[in-house]
Amino acid sequence: MNVSKFGKKLAVQSGIGQLMDDLGAALSARHKVLMLGGGNPAHIPEVQRCFRRSMTALLQDGDRFERAVGNYDPPVGNVEFVEALAALLRGQFGWEIGPQNIALTNGSQLAFFILFNLFAGDYEDGTKKKVLLPLLPEYIGYCDVGLTRDFFTAQKPLIEQIDGHTFKYHVDFDRLRIGDDIGAVCISRPTNPTGNVPTNEEVERLRALARARGVPLIIDNAYGMPFPNIVFTDAKPHWDESTILCMSLSKLGLPAARTGIVIAREEVAERVARVNAVMSLAPGGMGTAIVTDLVRSGEIIRLSREVIKPFYQEKARQALEQVHQSLAGIDYRVHRPEGAFFMWLWFPNLPITSRQLYQRLKQRNVLVIPGHHFFPGLAEPWPHVNECLRVSYAQNHEVVVAGLQAIAEEVRRA
Ligand SMILES: Cc1ncc(COP(=O)(O)O)c(C=O)c1O
Repeated sequence: MNVSKFGKKLAVQSGIGQLMDDLGAALSARHKVLMLGGGNPAHIPEVQRCFRRSMTALLQDGDRFERAVGNYDPPVGNVEFVEALAALLRGQFGWEIGPQNIALTNGSQLAFFILFNLFAGDYEDGTKKKVLLPLLPEYIGYCDVGLTRDFFTAQKPLIEQIDGHTFKYHVDFDRLRIGDDIGAVCISRPTNPTGNVPTNEEVERLRALARARGVPLIIDNAYGMPFPNIVFTDAKPHWDESTILCMSLSKLGLPAARTGIVIAREEVAERVARVNAVMSLAPGGMGTAIVTDLVRSGEIIRLSREVIKPFYQEKARQALEQVHQSLAGIDYRVHRPEGAFFMWLWFPNLPITSRQLYQRLKQRNVLVIPGHHFFPGLAEPWPHVNECLRVSYAQNHEVVVAGLQAIAEEVRRA
């Protein structure tokens, strides 16, 4: 089929498309697949009970259910939710925001498509701008959202060796330049795929640099504070008028609700809503219908702090222990798990590429994500790109144990 440039750019198989195909197939598979690949959140019983209670209240409370499913929300998203969230964030962090600073999207993935293409790409004066990713590796879902070519620019990180087997990536500020060709700077914090939480100082320096150049710092807070709060360090959340904070209901446990949240200065939020109107009329309202009361009462904060965070922190501890046990005797490193729910494994001098390792594992019905997908915008060659794997530890521990065992066997055999 002959299609337009748009079709050739977007309607093709991408890294994120492959990942979501694998995820869907694994979750509906009749044969057993060890799913350590996708970014699906865990099913945490206490959290699920809470959503079930909200849903029951919605069904039993007058015509709330009929209104939730029977009406379009405005392009900015459900007004009651937006008001409740603005109040929550003002109260929790003292941020000077109101409902005018918030726009919802059908999943935060769509928010990145909108925001990146708002700030990067071709400008009317003939200039062309890019999104700068100052800390690689970075989220696979960004890679294909740009509507123009050469959409990203990025640089190698610094690697802090914490002990014989543990490391942490840092922004290499000595090499970081925000030139006239940069339209926005973006980091995910906690970072998918590494579980890194860039430090408060790193965020402050990025904010200052971006602000000095008059470009927004986009912080992808899909795993961050105040919900779902899958953060194990003393990181402080940050927002100001020059920052765009993107959040999501997905990692809280509601990925099917497809609810993304953009917190930005008013004119940015407004533009996101305008794109919503063109692309999808309005964000879906089921996610907000389920959580609005939890936001209003602050219960979402308690749930995140007392249930979700400790749940993943314990899983991280177990997974890390298992990594050291399964990979003993192999030349491996693991990124210090500071948040989100991924182990980022690095096999220095791996004789095969991580893509080949992924394929060998897939033949054994073990799904992981090969590392090369997480380096968008890196122009310089770097063997490291082909030496890493992302492993999710959100699933049952037995799956993680069996998966790591299989990884160890394949690396030994390589
Ligand atoms: C870092 C990061 N950002 C954004 C997203 C998009 O999530 P959603 O579209 O479900 O909000 C994900 C999903 O895995 C993610 O890991």
